[in-house]
Amino acid sequence: MGTAGGIDCRWSARNMFYQTEKDLMPAVSPYGALSHRMFALFCQMGKVIKDGVEIEVKDGDSIIPACEKLGLYMGCTEGNCWTCLVDVIEGGENLSERTEAEAALGVKSKERLVCQCRLKGGTVKLHWE
Ligand code: FES
Repeated sequence: MGTAGGIDCRWSARNMFYQTEKDLMPAVSPYGALSHRMFALFCQMGKVIKDGVEIEVKDGDSIIPACEKLGLYMGCTEGNCWTCLVDVIEGGENLSERTEAEAALGVKSKERLVCQCRLKGGTVKLHWE
């Protein structure tokens, strides 16, 4: 994790560019909000789906915010507590590789810890109670 000019750049250079554009455009242009929406059209977006409800996630981003919007309670967010354990119904290949934390906890093949997942692209269907 780190910052560049106060901008969170922990995920990727593309994410940093996105963050920069989002932060600066409304301040420098009366068309900033519209420009931001147009920029979003060029970002690759995937989806997290639970019980038919879809939330868009930018490729490469964590799925935590989407799952929270879908009602999942998060705990430690570091792979220690199991609070975010979910069943993967479809699209498991669209999630980032399993982390050491998931392996150490013995997370089964059709399960994932949301706090350890990023969406590579495409769609993933999840379920939890
Ligand atoms: S929130 Fe604790 S393991 Fe994911």
